[in-house]
Amino acid sequence: MSDSGFFVSVEGLDGSGKTTQVGLLAQTLATTGRRVTVVRDPGSTALGERVRDLLLEPRAGAPVSHWAETALFLASRLQLAEEVIRPALTHGDVVVSDRYLDSTLAYQGARGISRSEILELHRLFGLTRLPDLTVILDLPVVLAQTRRESGTAPDRMEQESSSYHERVRAGYLDLAGQFPDRIVVLDADRPADEIARQCGSLVKDRLNVGRAT
Ligand code: TYD
Repeated sequence: MSDSGFFVSVEGLDGSGKTTQVGLLAQTLATTGRRVTVVRDPGSTALGERVRDLLLEPRAGAPVSHWAETALFLASRLQLAEEVIRPALTHGDVVVSDRYLDSTLAYQGARGISRSEILELHRLFGLTRLPDLTVILDLPVVLAQTRRESGTAPDRMEQESSSYHERVRAGYLDLAGQFPDRIVVLDADRPADEIARQCGSLVKDRLNVGRAT
């Protein structure tokens, strides 16, 4: 089923500046006259926020299997898609999501779960509406870690090793090669305002309003 909305996801390692860019992008898009809905995945629904807490709480010693982890991320996404994203797109909004399925492909992919299995699960769950545009904020793992360490205590995912995060970064870059029409990689090792300008023009161009403003 088609909709009149536009769906953008922003992806990257923890510490890549994703959340800042999502906020700046939403401000830029608000000037186009389109209604903008901002969400975060996992989260942005009552159920999703509870699942997010379960997934990210650092719980030393409490095992989380790779498939259980994948299932929980998908459960949160399913609720988010049904409750917020689908209605917003049907209404014609621009939806900006802080992470979406590429996070599962990169992070759970780095656990060893195959891309085809993850895509098949999305299909089975009816999560077939992919983003129209995905921006990956790319940054070397050491830089992302340094940025993150100046913030709050690491969550369960952030506690993973550097080699895990290297696999996540490689996974993202590989996805950009697999889906070149949907995914754009931006160098995140630059001032936030410079990235925001590039990201804003990119999205506005795809929305076909860029040339008029
Ligand atoms: P994130 O949304 O980046 O929040 P914060 O900026 O507060 O750390 O954190 C979500 C974490 O969950 C991040 O480490 C990536 C991970 N993640 C997955 O492993 N799989 C997924 O499908 C999603 C959406 C996130």
